[in-house]
Amino acid sequence: MVTHSATLEINERVAAYRSAGRRIVHLGFGEAGLPVLPALADRLREAAGDNSYAPVAGSEEVRHAAAGYWHRRGIPTGDDQMLVAPGSKPLLYAALAAIEGDVVLPMPSWVTYAAQAALAGKRVIPAPIPTDHGGIPDPDGLADTLRRARADGADPRLLVVTLPDNPTGTVASEAAVRGICEIADRHGLVIVSDEIYRDLVHDGGPVTSPAVLLPDRTIVTGGLSKNLALGGWRIGFARVPATTEGTAWHAAILGIASELWSCMATPMERVAAYALGEPEVVANHITRSRRLHAAVATAVAAIFTDAGATLRPPTAGFYLYPDLESARTKLTRIGVRTGADLAHYLLDEHGLAVLPGESFGDTPAAFRSRVATSLLYGDTEQRWEALGSAEPARLPWIAAELERLRDILARVMTP
Ligand SMILES: Cc1ncc(COP(=O)(O)O)c(C=O)c1O
Repeated sequence: MVTHSATLEINERVAAYRSAGRRIVHLGFGEAGLPVLPALADRLREAAGDNSYAPVAGSEEVRHAAAGYWHRRGIPTGDDQMLVAPGSKPLLYAALAAIEGDVVLPMPSWVTYAAQAALAGKRVIPAPIPTDHGGIPDPDGLADTLRRARADGADPRLLVVTLPDNPTGTVASEAAVRGICEIADRHGLVIVSDEIYRDLVHDGGPVTSPAVLLPDRTIVTGGLSKNLALGGWRIGFARVPATTEGTAWHAAILGIASELWSCMATPMERVAAYALGEPEVVANHITRSRRLHAAVATAVAAIFTDAGATLRPPTAGFYLYPDLESARTKLTRIGVRTGADLAHYLLDEHGLAVLPGESFGDTPAAFRSRVATSLLYGDTEQRWEALGSAEPARLPWIAAELERLRDILARVMTP
């Protein structure tokens, strides 16, 4: 059985604590934590009367806009290569279900991939990430992992990568992406490249997509849940290769879509078509969001590092993946032995919500956790202020949460 998604569950536990009057530093939920850009709300209002079903793959208008989004990122795309859906999550599932074979996943990687692979009746082959960033398997170990998996009776034919990555908040280098593309090519793997965070690289730098390096074997997904904080509006898209095989994958994904969700909500198509055209007001909003995520993620990373945790310095999105191994002796003494124990202890005893690395496929005994920094921005008005601030980590409501975090970590980590 696939259980309740760990990320959604922690959110509900935090809500229960808060409604009982407890103060919680909530670093457990990966929502972008920013308000809706008014220009997008205007588009939604204008389209509210549009209640007919849309084409399963999406209207010509929205697919054309989505193709343009990839084109501007150096990935030329025809409108027929695109599909849109209520979020990229269903498209990822459809891609995994539509293509035969077992699934290689970076370890750790986003909670949903392994659950979706299980739903699609596939084995998961975990492949450890490199030491300097996540999102892809370590190219040095991938070929061995594939050989061992085959010897063990698995049939690895799909590789999911996350560029930039959740949970580590990092983006793989071009050399590393090239490395895994070469191995994927040699071993006949199809790459599913989840690029939902690609507009949130902290320094605005580019993301090297396998769709450029291995164009015939890469399906790319993206969406507006992170760059425009529209998670609840459910806007996602996928791009298949312009090949005979790509066309077959498109048809197979479409078949699943037609029986599971029928289409993206028609008013959302209109929002997506506008947003994916990237008018200046949208592009500026994304730039301000990226800068805010960068400033706060960097400030939180410094607090973890100062407290004695180790982590990959964050370079994209709004996540960190700290390891509290240096406090093991102290924590073991009070009965904390696994990452899950640690997450419970932090929430129940200290009011700090994080997700254990085990939820992301990491070793259960490791004291690694996924920390999301985007719920620190405050309420709606405060979020607008944070977006406009040159030094958001110094805003009083954010600084107060950071101070609280510093205190908690000092109590947890000091021998
Ligand atoms: C790596 C990754 N992919 C996809 C998604 C979900 O995207 P969507 O809202 O488009 O379904 C998330 C959201 O947490 C994510 O972290």
